[in-house]
Amino acid sequence: MRILSGIQPTGRFHWGNYFGAIRQYIDLQNGQDTAFYFIANLHALTTIRNCEVLSRNTLDAAADLLALGLEPERATLFVQSDVPEVSELCWLLMTLTPMGLLERCHAYKDKKGRGLTADTGLFAYPVLMAADILSYDSDIVPVGADQVQHIEVCRDIAGAFNHIFGEVFVMPKAQVLESTAKVPGLDGGKMSKSYNNSVEVFEDLKLQKKKIMGITTDSRPMEEPKEPEGDHLFELFSLFASPEQTEELAATYRRGGFGYGSVKKELVVLAEKFFAEARSKREELAAKPEFVRSVLADGAARARKKAQEVLERVQKSCGVKYY
Ligand code: ADP
Ligand code: TRP
Repeated sequence: MRILSGIQPTGRFHWGNYFGAIRQYIDLQNGQDTAFYFIANLHALTTIRNCEVLSRNTLDAAADLLALGLEPERATLFVQSDVPEVSELCWLLMTLTPMGLLERCHAYKDKKGRGLTADTGLFAYPVLMAADILSYDSDIVPVGADQVQHIEVCRDIAGAFNHIFGEVFVMPKAQVLESTAKVPGLDGGKMSKSYNNSVEVFEDLKLQKKKIMGITTDSRPMEEPKEPEGDHLFELFSLFASPEQTEELAATYRRGGFGYGSVKKELVVLAEKFFAEARSKREELAAKPEFVRSVLADGAARARKKAQEVLERVQKSCGVKYY
C-alpha cells in the first residue's frame, strides 16, 4: 500500500501543524506501507506571490520535517514542482472535471462568498490535488478533516476517467487524522497562522516564552476550582506533558488554589524540552542546506519514476500518446 500526503509551505510550522498532521506522518513512515510526502509549493503559489518567500519556505519546510523525525530512508520526501508529470496529469484530469464539482469546493466557495474574485488556480486547486494523489497510485491519503472534500473530488475524477478510458487509476482513500489534536491557539480558538494565535515549533525561545505567558485566561479567583476539560491552557499543557503530569494538573484545576501563571511557566519548560532534540537537529540542518537539497533531489527522482510510469499509462489510455 502507498501512503501519500502533501503539506503547503505557507509559513513555518506551528504546534497545530505538528500535533495535527506532521507527527502522524512521521509515525506512518515506520509501518509496512510506502510513504510519500511532498511539499505542495504549486498549491502555495495560489497564496504566496513572493519569489524569495516561496523558495525559502519550501526549503525550511523540508528541513523542519527532517528535524522533526522524517527519515529519507523510510519515507520519500520531495517538492511537488520537481515532478512536472503531476502538472501534465492535472490538465488531462481537468478535461473531464465538471465545473459544478469544483464550484462546490470550500476554498473557492468561501472566497467567492466573501465577494472576492478567485483565480483559476484556486478554482482548479482540487484537480491539482487529485493529480498529486493519482500520479503515484496512492492508496491512502492521511489528511485533516478540512481536506476530506478534496479526496472525494479526487475519487469522483478518477471514477469518471476510469469509466471512460478503462481501469487506469487506483482509487485512493482518505485517512482522517485524529481530531483529538485540534490544537487550540493562544486565544483559545483553533491554532492557525491566519489567526495570529500560533506558536511555531522552531520559534525563538524568548519569543515563544513571551507568547506562552500571554495565553489568554479568565479572571476567576485563584481559589476557585476549575474544570480542566475545554480549558485551552490545560489542553496545550497536556500535548507536552506525560499522562501523570496531565492527571496531576487536572486534579489541581479541580481543587483550585493555583495561578495560571505557574501553569504557563511549566508549559514553557515542557515545550522547550519536548522539541529540544528537534531544535538542535534543525540547527545542524540549517548549516548544511546542500544536504537538504540532496534529500529532496533523491526524493524527487524516486517520485518521478513512479509518476512517469503512471502518466504513460494514462496517456496511452486516452490517445494522447499517439505513436
Ligand atoms: P493553518 O490553519 O495554520 O493555515 P494549514 O491549513 O496549512 O494550517 O494546516 C496544515 C495541516 O495542519 C492541516 O491539514 C491540519 O491537518 C493541520 N492543522 C493545522 N492547524 C491545526 C490545529 N490547530 N489543530 C490540529 N491540526 C491542525
Ligand atoms: N491541500 C492540502 C492542504 O492544504 C495539501 C495537499 C496538496 C495535499 N496536495 C495534496 C494533501 C495531496 C494530500 C494529498 O493541507
